[in-house]
Amino acid sequence: MSNQTNRRDFIGYSFAAVAAVGGAASLVGMKQVWDPLPSVLAGGFTKFDLSTLKAGEPEVITWRGKPIFVLKKTKEMEASERDLVIGEDRFTVVIGLCTHLGCIPAWKKTMWKCACHGGEFTPSAKNVFGPPPRPLDLAPFSVSGTTITLGEDGPEYQKMLKAVI
Ligand code: FES
Repeated sequence: MSNQTNRRDFIGYSFAAVAAVGGAASLVGMKQVWDPLPSVLAGGFTKFDLSTLKAGEPEVITWRGKPIFVLKKTKEMEASERDLVIGEDRFTVVIGLCTHLGCIPAWKKTMWKCACHGGEFTPSAKNVFGPPPRPLDLAPFSVSGTTITLGEDGPEYQKMLKAVI
């Protein structure tokens, strides 16, 4: 093997090494551009601790710009296949947009009432009066202890979906 050959090999390996490092750096740069920003990722999920709720007093939280109704049911409120059951407690977790034309119903003592055209929904979010064609839609979530993460497709949510279809 001549000196000339060794020199050519060395130059070839050097170019290959530079090209490999450059290619890897380019891939890292492209991944950073393609991946959603952390603020965007965080915006897709909302956590809420259901243990902070008082029975019979729903709260409205926001997930991806939508109102989400969360209600801890009282013992007197009817059980439903749409309930999230944690221990002894039953919860309603639904998207708070009327299924008629999208107004936001308000809680009136024992049910949600829609001011737009008079639609009414039970504590299980079932439509019982007025023009709404169906119950309030379920919001996708997962559960860990008493905390729900809206935006995740957990097994409890899947079970509720199957029960109501
Ligand atoms: S939008 Fe609620 S009843 Fe029409």
